[in-house]
Amino acid sequence: MTISDDAQTPDELAESSRPWLDLAPDYERARTKEDSLDRLVEWPAQRGVLGDVTGRSVLDLGCGNGGKVAELVQEGAAASVGVDISGNFLSTPPPGVELIRGDLSDLDAVPGLAGRTFDRILFLQSFGYAQDPVRTLKAARAMLADDGFILLTRTNPIRFAVERSEQNGTSLGEEYFSTAEFSYAHSWNENITLTKRAYTMSDLLNDFSAAGLWIESALEPQLPEDARRRYPHKQEWMNKHLGIFIFKLRPR
Ligand SMILES: C[S@@+](CC[C@H](N)C(=O)[O-])C[C@H]1O[C@@H](n2cnc3c(N)ncnc32)[C@H](O)[C@@H]1O
Repeated sequence: MTISDDAQTPDELAESSRPWLDLAPDYERARTKEDSLDRLVEWPAQRGVLGDVTGRSVLDLGCGNGGKVAELVQEGAAASVGVDISGNFLSTPPPGVELIRGDLSDLDAVPGLAGRTFDRILFLQSFGYAQDPVRTLKAARAMLADDGFILLTRTNPIRFAVERSEQNGTSLGEEYFSTAEFSYAHSWNENITLTKRAYTMSDLLNDFSAAGLWIESALEPQLPEDARRRYPHKQEWMNKHLGIFIFKLRPR
């Protein structure tokens, strides 16, 4: 195992990423709750799209504490790397897992990545933090091994439009097509505010296209039947906010 620290100072970081220096432990706590959507919906669906990882190298960009990449290595993935800005990493990652503190907006500057290629590159709910999304995707594409693919997940933008239209007393369409930045306190920690750029589905699809990627498959995972019954409040949340998209992307 290796853990490297190669981060910028908070002042050098994009405003959207800065809150993660404090928020990371709260996110990990929320993620492990028995009714977390990551646990019930997102990770099982992401894992399903990844398929058999035996002997495959993985690069997890915006990896959180590195728990997901660690799990993949324990299931047979080859030597793999996680990169996150927070540096809030597992204290003892398994052998074959390297966790590096770094910025996904500037992948060329993450030294542990220079000259390496990976069979699977993951952006799991982290792509929205790229300052220049196309630049980041192109840098990731350049690190893909032959026959490799990128697994990228992103929140359905309608979720944010629903929340903002309720807050602002506006219509769904006005908020969906608004290009203004917006800020909100997440339930992970009500005292920390995240600031995001609004985006539409077209923005996302155009980013993939501009980075020379095509969508092999797309998925909008939902709660399994037993989880719907056990956690009706989560089904209610999904009915209103829709959830995430999962894209499997390959170089054109
Ligand atoms: C919603 S969490 C997702 C974590 C993990 N991928 C998962 O699926 O559980 C977003 C992650 O992106 C990381 N992040 C935010 N800005 C980043 C940046 N500029 N570079 C690298 N990681 C960043 C955060 O620290 C956080 O761990």
